Amino acid sequence: MTVDDKRKIAVVGVGAVGSATAYAVMISGLVSELVLVDINRERAEGEAMDLAHGASFIKPIRIYAGEYKDCRDADIVIFCAGANQKPGETRLDLVQRNFAVLKDVLENLMPLKDDGILLMVSNPVDILTYAALRLTRLPPAQVIGSGTVLDSSRFRYLLSQYCQVEPRNIHAYVVGEHGDTEVPLWSLANIAGMPVQEFCCWRGVPCLDPEEISRRVREAAYEVIARKGATYYAIGLAVKRICESILRDENSILTVSGLVDGEYGISGVCLSLPSIVNRTGRARVLAVPLAAREEEALHHSARTLQSIIAQLDL
Ligand code: NAD
Ligand code: LAC
Repeated sequence: MTVDDKRKIAVVGVGAVGSATAYAVMISGLVSELVLVDINRERAEGEAMDLAHGASFIKPIRIYAGEYKDCRDADIVIFCAGANQKPGETRLDLVQRNFAVLKDVLENLMPLKDDGILLMVSNPVDILTYAALRLTRLPPAQVIGSGTVLDSSRFRYLLSQYCQVEPRNIHAYVVGEHGDTEVPLWSLANIAGMPVQEFCCWRGVPCLDPEEISRRVREAAYEVIARKGATYYAIGLAVKRICESILRDENSILTVSGLVDGEYGISGVCLSLPSIVNRTGRARVLAVPLAAREEEALHHSARTLQSIIAQLDL
């Protein structure tokens, strides 16, 4: 094992999302050490055992259930602890419960190592990312939310189904809140440089209905939760993808959430914008050109998040 391979990820909260994330990270070969922490110690132990029993099929990795002190030398700490939505609840409905969990965890978790990244996944992810930033006083680049990375993937998946082309060939972003006010950027969506509608004509499929696809992206989580109670596989892969870009210093453009500092005249909030992600975290934000209606929708998303932040005891 080379020095470069000595990388560690900690997952705090190993319920459905934390364990799916741990599994995705484990099979990726990205890290040599994976520590799992949960208020329910037995759960963390059980997940660690179950994962570790697959050791003979993957690259060498040490997987164990640990304490908060075991997270402090991790390159990335992934926060997946707290309540998830029950059918009929929105992500924002979780705010007070998960803000309390966040405060509790941070009191025990901090400090991280100097270049450690705190990657927030629990909902409402943009609010908790902002709260974590304020409570830890870490540099903004080092506190990242998974944001709309998952929503952008859902957008690409639906476009790929419609346009009959593979999702990795689609450039399309969802920005703003990871939630009901999210903003799919139709004005920038393209396939091989062609606007998606033009691609549809060329491909011989009927013109798509942007409103219908936007609705299906926005309601995707509700549809899954109504059927199986929670979402976890796709978010596990999304979080693994963010970790990969960080640990391999890839400079990938991902719609992670983080502090907005004047872009589009917005500040004092965390939300998702296309951003360069590398070993320093959310290194730079791209203020991409938006259509007027998209910029207005982004402002609405920011105002919604700001009104929730104002209710928190920060
Ligand atoms: P879950 O109930 O299955 O797991 C939550 C885990 O957190 C449990 O194991 C619980 O014991 C643990 N926990 C609770 N309080 C804790 C504390 N104080 N310290 C340590 N651990 C604690 O829930 P889930 O389905 O895994 O969802 C977790 C979170 O992820 C939810 O907030 C959910 O909304 C969110 N989520 C986010 C995305 C996204 O795209 N950002 C996607 C899916 C789910
Ligand atoms: C999602 C969660 C619920 O799957 O935020 O979008």
